[in-house]
Order: sequence, then structure tokens, then C-alpha cells
Amino acid sequence: MKHSLLTLLLASGAWASMQAQEIPLVNNIYGRQNTITLNGAWDYIVDVQERGFYDYRMNETRWGFFLDQHQKDKQELVEYNFDTSPKMNVPGDWNTQDEQLFFYEGTVWLRRNFDYSPTPGKRTVLYFGAVNYEAIVYVNGQKMGKHVGGFTPFNFDITSALKEGKNNVIVKVDNKRTREQIPTNIYDWWNYGGITRDVLLTEVDETYVEDYSLQLDKQDWKHLTGWVKLNNKVAGEKVSVNIPELKVKTEVVTDNEGRAEISVKAKPTLWSPENPKLYNVSIARGEEIISDEIGFRCIETQGKQILLNGQPIFMRGISLHEEAPFGGGRTTHVSQSRTLLEWAKELNCNYVRMAHYPHSELEVREAEKMGIMVWDEIPVYWTIAWENQETYANAERQLHDMINRDKNRAAVVIWSIANETPHSDPRDKFLSSLAKYARTQDNSRLISMAMEVTSANNYHNKLNDNMHEYVDVVSFNQYVGWYRDVNDASKMTWEVPYNKPVIVSEFGGGARYGLHADKDTRWSEEFQENLYIENLKMLDKIEGLAGLSPWILKDFRSPARYLPDVQDYYNRKGLVSEQGQKKLSFYVMQQYYKEKSEANKK
Ligand code: GCU
Repeated sequence: MKHSLLTLLLASGAWASMQAQEIPLVNNIYGRQNTITLNGAWDYIVDVQERGFYDYRMNETRWGFFLDQHQKDKQELVEYNFDTSPKMNVPGDWNTQDEQLFFYEGTVWLRRNFDYSPTPGKRTVLYFGAVNYEAIVYVNGQKMGKHVGGFTPFNFDITSALKEGKNNVIVKVDNKRTREQIPTNIYDWWNYGGITRDVLLTEVDETYVEDYSLQLDKQDWKHLTGWVKLNNKVAGEKVSVNIPELKVKTEVVTDNEGRAEISVKAKPTLWSPENPKLYNVSIARGEEIISDEIGFRCIETQGKQILLNGQPIFMRGISLHEEAPFGGGRTTHVSQSRTLLEWAKELNCNYVRMAHYPHSELEVREAEKMGIMVWDEIPVYWTIAWENQETYANAERQLHDMINRDKNRAAVVIWSIANETPHSDPRDKFLSSLAKYARTQDNSRLISMAMEVTSANNYHNKLNDNMHEYVDVVSFNQYVGWYRDVNDASKMTWEVPYNKPVIVSEFGGGARYGLHADKDTRWSEEFQENLYIENLKMLDKIEGLAGLSPWILKDFRSPARYLPDVQDYYNRKGLVSEQGQKKLSFYVMQQYYKEKSEANKK
């Protein structure tokens, strides 16, 4: 097998020393200049046994698909060809773009050719909004690095691998589930594999503003505090922070760590669902300008109340998965997120629980513009490998990445660290560490998690979870009416023995849209409607009830929901069908929240 000099060099690993590393997130890529998109049609190769990565002795091969080889003469043996392979859209999951991949869990290679002229003196950064689940990224045959975790952004400095003119990026994506991952190998949503969010290129100087934070001082609402951070530890760099509408124009100078604190007086109109005020903010370092829209608000608790800007607020919520409003698949465009959020607004919601993983940054920004508060969650879901150090490191990294990405989003009011996790000492150690870690990253939001009521003797349900001392809001899921008899709802009492606000983070039941029968017939819309009526009467009795996020806005795909002609691999607990059709229970919830909203105004 003959190879070109370049191929030999690449394969020899001689370039390994030039292998770029994943660099800290170049935050708010959408607000930076010189950004181009690599979204579009990518060539792909399904690689069930990963022979594009391993040789037949299971060693990482030097002749992998990342070399993008082509047969150069009639003798050469090359057994793959991106040029003649099919294409799929990026961003997008492969499950809904190729019916042969509907259930597929494994490796798919994706390639994007692109013409590029690197700007001398600049660094080029390759950004991925998310890849589910593991990504190994190559540029022109050189490994840039690997990222694990399906729902948070990451980026590489690819300057050393770029050429003038024709370039390519090749990504090995593997969505196989494993016991040690976050989430673990069993969960109630579809394992959509692929490059599921935007792929962007941007150029930055050798030294650039890597990150920044700007928020309302919790103790003084006429004071904005924050910081800017350069990628290098360069002192003396001047960075200006401008908020024209607030007549804020300040300049800070970085210290030996490349950081500078921001502290300015201002009188912002506070962000709220009723008035989701956002301010144009620009962060400038010489020619480098980052634009953002930032809201200022204060979220805190007082006893059993949640206070937004000092006023008690009832969290009129709904849970949702990040799945396209019509027909399933990961959402790939903000217009799809907007449709989902408009349904939530129509429900009279002021809050959404973005379950069970960080949704796209663009969805969070859309919620912010629409005046919808956000519960942001990492997928520490069900029975995690609590005693595995790597598993914990994965969870903490995803928590870091979620907070790091969304820390300037006023709409985000709750960081959630878990969902329905079984009690044990290792679980408490794992979760309490996550809760403590979250507080080191951000002190301006509430911490919660979806717990389960574990002690229920007949009709008395008592929440008893050691994690209550680590959260600000005690939230729990319950399924009276679906996994327990709806006729018991009126007899049920709920005891939450903690002086903290309570959110019922899930309740609900299934119905197939258009299936009508009496209220005792499971899967009928009437059954679901009655379940909601009975649950709302029951939940209203909970002392300190500060919010609800019923499960769930829209029917969503799940491999665990098999029932032919009823579920067909859809979880049917949505208030809206996967075709956007509203079920009877939608209107029950809508009316309940309308009354809550009016009561809150009195
Ligand atoms: C759980 C879980 C959800 C799941 C739901 C259900 O509460 O948190 O992810 O979809 O139950 O059973 O439908």
C-alpha cells in the first residue's frame, strides 16, 4: 500500500506533538466577530466495528478514516470514500435522517470539506455546540482531541492544522451508552446520536477575552459586578465594558492572572417574565468586540418562598425535552425551540424545566427573550455509577460546562444536579459534592434536583432525602394517577419537612391524542384530563408549594415505550402530541396557571 508523504507524516504520528488540545470555551461565540458556520451537508460513514479507528488487533490505527484517503492508482487498496458516501445535515441527529440509523448506537464518521484562508497572526477556533456522546475531532488528518458528554459545547484551537485553501474536519461520533457515563446506560429518552448543535469557526488574537461574567449585585440592585478573563495570564490589558442604555462605559485592566473585576453603578430595569428586559452589552479589547444581551435580576429564597426581584413568585412551569416540535429528532434550529416555548407561553407558563440535560444555548437565550425562567439540568439521571471516579469527573465537568455557558443568562434561575436518583451513601457523597461545586461556580442562582418521595404509607407521603440540606429548592417527582391510583389523590397528604420552597418537578400521565373514552380508560385523553384535575387539587394542599413543572409539554421518543398503536416508541405524557395537537389536559393546565397568574397579581 503506497502512501503520499503527507499521509506517511500524518500516520507516523510525527504531528502528534503538534496535536492541538481542547481549549477553554471561547464564551459567547455567537457574539464574536469573524465567525463562520460549518453547518450544512456533511458526508458520513457508518462504522459499526470502528475499523476506521482500530486495526484488526484493536490498536488505534494510523491509517484511519481521519486521513480521508482516496485511491490514487489502479492498484491501491482503500476501502472507504467520503466523496461517494451519503450526506446528512449538521446540526442533526442521525436517527431521524437515515431510517437505517433509527435505532443505531455506535460510531458514525462525519466529514466537512471547507475552503479557508487563515488570517496571519490569528488563532482559529473550531466550536461544537454539542456532539452526542463522544467526539474525536480531526482537522486535515490531525487529531485535535476528544470530548465526552452529549449536551455541552467545546472547542479546539486548530491553527496548527489549518492550510490555505482546502481543509477538512472529520469527527468520529460514538453514541454507545455505557454504565459509567453521565447519563448511565438506561434513561427514558431517545439516544439521538450525532453532531446535534452548531459547528462554527472563529478567529481570535493570540491573546483574547476568553470569558466574562456580568450580573446584578444581590445586595445592591444599583450595582453590577463581574469580571473578564483573558486566555493568557497577561497583565495590563485594557478591556472596556459598555452598556449604552445604562450609560455604563467602564474600562478595566487585567492583573497577572489575565483577569479584571468589573464593578459599576447602574440602575437597570430588572428582568422578569412580565418584562424580560435585556441590555446590549459590548466587551471590547482593542479591535476585538464581543456583543451580548444581558438581563439583570435577583433570584433568592425566603423560607418557603421563591423571590424574584424581592417579590414572591409561583413557578408556573412545564417540563420539556429538547426534541423538535413536529415529528421528533433533536431540535436543530432556534425556530423549533421558539415553537416549543410559545406552547409553554400559551400554557401561561413563566418557567420551563429543560430536562434532563442542558438544552441548546440558543434555546436558553430564546426563553430569556420570551420572559421564561429556566431550570437547567445535567443528566445525572437514575442509577449512576456513584463510586466511579471518572463518572464523577464527567458529571462535574458537565456541570461546569453548563454553568460556564449559561452564567450570564438571567432567565436561568435553577441549576439542577440530578433526577430521581436512588438513595445511598455513595449517591449522597456524589451529589453533595456536585452541589458544593456548583456554588463555587455561581452564587446567583438556586440549586435543586428532582427527588423522589420514598416513604408513603397508604396515603401519607413524606419526602425524606438527605440532599435537602444541599439544595435551595426542594423538588420532587410524583405520579399519582399514573403509577398510583388516581382515585387515591383526594386522600393523599404530602409532608415536606424542610423550611425551603417546594417545586413538584414532575407529575402527569399518558394519553394518545385523539383517543377518547371515559375517564377510567387508560391512554384516553379523558383519563389524562381527569388525572390532571385530581393532581392539581391534591398538590394545591402542599404547604410551601412554590412551583410545578408537569411531565411533559410534548410527547417524546423513548426506547422504553413500546405499546403498538398507542406509544410506538413515544412517551405519551405530553400535553401536546408529537404533531403539535393539544390534548384536553393542556387546557386544564392552562386554566390552572391563568388563575395562579391572576392570584399572583393581587
Ligand atoms: C420519570 C423521569 C422521566 C420519565 C418519566 C416517565 O419521572 O424523570 O424522565 O420520562 O418518569 O415515567 O414518563
